[in-house]
Amino acid sequence: MKQGKKALRKMEQTGKPLQKTAEWIALENHYDKIRDIHLRDLFDKDPERFSRFSRSFPGFLVDFSKNRLNNKTLSLLLDLAKRAGVEKARDLMFQGAAINWTEKRPALHPALRNRSDSPMGPKDQDVMPEVTATLDRMKAFAEGVRTGKLKGSSGKRFRTVVNIGIGGSHLGPEMITRALHSYGQPKRGKGIAVRFLANIDPTAFKETVEELNPQETLFIVSSKSFTTTETLTNARSAWEWAEKSLGEKTGHHFAGVTAQVERAREWGIDPERVFPLWEWVGGRYSWASAIGLCVACRIGFDHFEELLQGAHEMDRHFQEAPLEENIPVLMAMIGIWYRNFFNTQTQAILPYSHALGAFPAFVQQLDMESNGKSIDLNGERVRYQTGPVVWGESGTLNQHSFFQLLHQGKFLVPADFIGFVEPLEEASESHGELMAHFFAQSQALMLGRNPKEVKKDLLAREMSPKEIAPLLPHRTFRGNRPSTTLLIDQLTPRNLGALIALYEMKVFVQGIIWRINSFDQWGVELGKQLAEKILNEGSLVANNGGADLSHHDPSTRGLLQHFAQHLE
Ligand code: F6P
Repeated sequence: MKQGKKALRKMEQTGKPLQKTAEWIALENHYDKIRDIHLRDLFDKDPERFSRFSRSFPGFLVDFSKNRLNNKTLSLLLDLAKRAGVEKARDLMFQGAAINWTEKRPALHPALRNRSDSPMGPKDQDVMPEVTATLDRMKAFAEGVRTGKLKGSSGKRFRTVVNIGIGGSHLGPEMITRALHSYGQPKRGKGIAVRFLANIDPTAFKETVEELNPQETLFIVSSKSFTTTETLTNARSAWEWAEKSLGEKTGHHFAGVTAQVERAREWGIDPERVFPLWEWVGGRYSWASAIGLCVACRIGFDHFEELLQGAHEMDRHFQEAPLEENIPVLMAMIGIWYRNFFNTQTQAILPYSHALGAFPAFVQQLDMESNGKSIDLNGERVRYQTGPVVWGESGTLNQHSFFQLLHQGKFLVPADFIGFVEPLEEASESHGELMAHFFAQSQALMLGRNPKEVKKDLLAREMSPKEIAPLLPHRTFRGNRPSTTLLIDQLTPRNLGALIALYEMKVFVQGIIWRINSFDQWGVELGKQLAEKILNEGSLVANNGGADLSHHDPSTRGLLQHFAQHLE
């Protein structure tokens, strides 16, 4: 296996801290010149701005023109990308180098959706045969569930699949299942319903199994590590719940997906029903592995393959398109422009699609677990900003909750608007209305409304100048609020696969610029360990179970005591 860290270090070509490179300094100087220019002026000066700053990928139009940049900005950003070695790092990833250097592993999720005949993997270790073999098994299993060939222990068809998993073993599958809900409907019958059990809160369990018939329910325990306490506790509860009605045949209603096949078998899952994934797949990048089994059960394997195909095509675009045409690279570098030069703190993800409602939560984990880091390749604390807070909500729900702040608040929030030309349902009036809001909001954010325009509007509404004067500052919008628009033909499996891969590669490029490891997640470990300690010391029972709490800090101790005192 290639030495990922060494290779990454080599490709940096800087030898200096990032902020001291000529490319970074050029961007700082450029920022001073451009920071106050209004997007209105940029459009006035350049009638070709829309076409100059739009890029396409089959099925996608990506409009970058509503961003606070010009040709010079883009070329300086791409200079920085080159200097940071983005192209070489990308090649290392696709070659299977151990670029996840703290865990000494490759990040080879593109192999999961490699639809070409080419091998992939570290030298002499082609991973494609096992990827393909697992896909074949998934296909047989998912089709068996869908057609009813694979039945429950009492001979009844499975009607509901419950995916038990959390984080990457939940967010991707749930987002995709919801997005492609309408693709799961068979010609006859109701198809397979999928539910997700992620949270350890007992209410989640109760809600999930409510009204389910154990005889028609299949549980898939999805956990890369097969040690995640939330998942294993929920799986145990599910087993006990099912056992009451299924008795010794309960195992027939369970399947598992994990990189720890032995652990799943020991836990009690029939080896025939354990589907592998591999250490080189990060949890948040695992939707295209067998972690997507519940998705395939819902939408059918053909659609699952289309999803993989779309992701593969975006991977190819990322590998092959020149940087100035490369959509993930441009999205990443524009993100860098805001985060590191405009000093923005957050990034909004705004899908104008009910079906894509879970996409912001998916990108949140993808981005924040990947790039919420502050230690670089050399083990030093970085002096610049890294991953932003990522958040969002589908349109138009978002407009009635947080858009006020986007338009007139003190934060500058770069936003991604994602919309579809064709609706999923029969063309209807509501799709037109939805899309009118989609176009209007990014326009309003950009243009704002100056006092002259507000005055004109209010006069036309027959308000007197005396009434207008005190309202004027409140009704004025400065505008100049940036956004990127992704206008996609339709929410198909193929386009969704491409959209996911686009964000994955964007996050990867930003990690390279920031010189952090986007593929580990040590930051989530400490909380897990402390929770285990609290659980094991037995302090969560009346009188804290007599446990010695003196090692806790005063705040935590006080809270634990209050909890125990108020237990019924
Ligand atoms: O939240 C931490 C994390 O390790 C994620 O990275 C991962 O997706 C999630 O827990 C679930 O892990 P597993 O699939 O091993 O149960």
